[in-house]
Amino acid sequence: MNRSNMPKAGFIDPSGNNADAVHDLAEDVLDQLLEQLEGAEDRSPLPTDSTAPAVTIPESSQTHDDLLDDLETIVDGSMNPAHPGYIGHMDTMPTTVSVLGDLVASAVNNNMLSVEMSPVFSELEVQVTETIAGEFDLGPDAGGVLTSGGSLANLHALSVARNQTFDIHEGGLAGLDREPVLFASEVAHTSLQKAAMLLGLGTDAVVAVETDDHSRMEPGSLAKAIKRTERNGRAPFCVVATAGTTTTGNIDPLPAIHDVADDHDLWFHVDAAYGGALVFSDAEGDRLDGIEAADSVTFNPQKWCYVAKTCAMALFVDADVLQEEFRIGAPYMRGDDAIPNLGEVSVQGTRRAEILKLWLTLQHLGRDGLEQLIDESYRLTATVRDRVLEHDALELASEPEMNIVCFRAAPEWCPPAERDDLNSRLQQVLLSEHDIFVSLPTYRDSRWLRVVLLNPFTGTETIGRLFDGIDAFLNAEETE
Ligand SMILES: Cc1ncc(COP(=O)(O)O)c(C=O)c1O
Repeated sequence: MNRSNMPKAGFIDPSGNNADAVHDLAEDVLDQLLEQLEGAEDRSPLPTDSTAPAVTIPESSQTHDDLLDDLETIVDGSMNPAHPGYIGHMDTMPTTVSVLGDLVASAVNNNMLSVEMSPVFSELEVQVTETIAGEFDLGPDAGGVLTSGGSLANLHALSVARNQTFDIHEGGLAGLDREPVLFASEVAHTSLQKAAMLLGLGTDAVVAVETDDHSRMEPGSLAKAIKRTERNGRAPFCVVATAGTTTTGNIDPLPAIHDVADDHDLWFHVDAAYGGALVFSDAEGDRLDGIEAADSVTFNPQKWCYVAKTCAMALFVDADVLQEEFRIGAPYMRGDDAIPNLGEVSVQGTRRAEILKLWLTLQHLGRDGLEQLIDESYRLTATVRDRVLEHDALELASEPEMNIVCFRAAPEWCPPAERDDLNSRLQQVLLSEHDIFVSLPTYRDSRWLRVVLLNPFTGTETIGRLFDGIDAFLNAEETE
């Protein structure tokens, strides 16, 4: 093939003929990237003046130096979760091996659609999902698939639950005489509504169940809500409990919620997108008690296991359910392998080998490494929580159960109607003057500040700076 219009390093020549050019480009990109990452603390946790490079399609190849300049600008303007002051979202700096794993996965460019297109990775994915299902004690037949994020994992689990309950894999919803509904707490993740919409149920099919003062679903309210919908002629099929709510990191009482689901013969899904990581901590793992009774689990190692985005999974207590209730065969694929073509039993078809960076992270950090990250973040969480409680002008949204502390400034001198605005300004000032990014969720109709203590380089110095910043802001506001 004539490749005269190609830059020298356009592809990695399989005969090694352009090795010098490829090495030059790769080393320059990697050196520059590492220099930027090793200086991440010198940039803002969240740059406010980000500009994307001009989007033009050049007639011919950009020079190597121009590409490097543009890449530098892109990284400089990007969210900077490696900064120890980045404590605002469930977004982490990635493990080194997950960055490298992504590079390797891209380089070999396999396709999780089928075994023949990803022989090693398919096997790895089956084994790793089975192993992690084992960590959750889901039983000997459990397994699952990776998805690009927790929203897809929830969609996947709910579609299997719906198909199995109503036996509508082929016939669809049209033949049903009652409207399917599912139950989740009022603070459950919005991906459930998205899933219900995509599954043809409509967002109203997600019945919001009341929570207690600490954002945990009330089992009594769940039981009442199920009975109410039955009386109204709707057809309950699933209860979703959350292990690690998005805003406050609380955990629904899994055993009690399971009992209610079981009483009504409903599928029990646990959205442990965030909290699932606790399986790696002996000290904190008990918080997940009850998850072993789940029919399916969502878990995102891209969050508290520090695997580069995206890396999530939908696990099923009986992995065969994917064959029975979900599989659509791809006639252009061989289907006689001992393991399934994962693209036939998952929402996504073509999919990158995200399993590699998860597997590498498990190998490189080991259980001890993950456990330490989790346990240390609990220690930091306790410090933040205590400082909030000690502070006259701050209030806590709920008792932390994970490494998330949601609180807000509510000084007596600030009228309640002006507190949302006060907290918004405080968030801005923490970023612009103290290099600390906390998020500003809406929770129970008010604006709160949310701290997520994931970053392994965040320490007591950062926490000191956070509270000094809060004090300086509140003092200045009060005297104005
Ligand atoms: C509890 C929970 N479930 C699901 C999701 C959705 O995950 P993703 O954003 O990866 O799609 C999130 C995201 O934060 C979450 O917190």
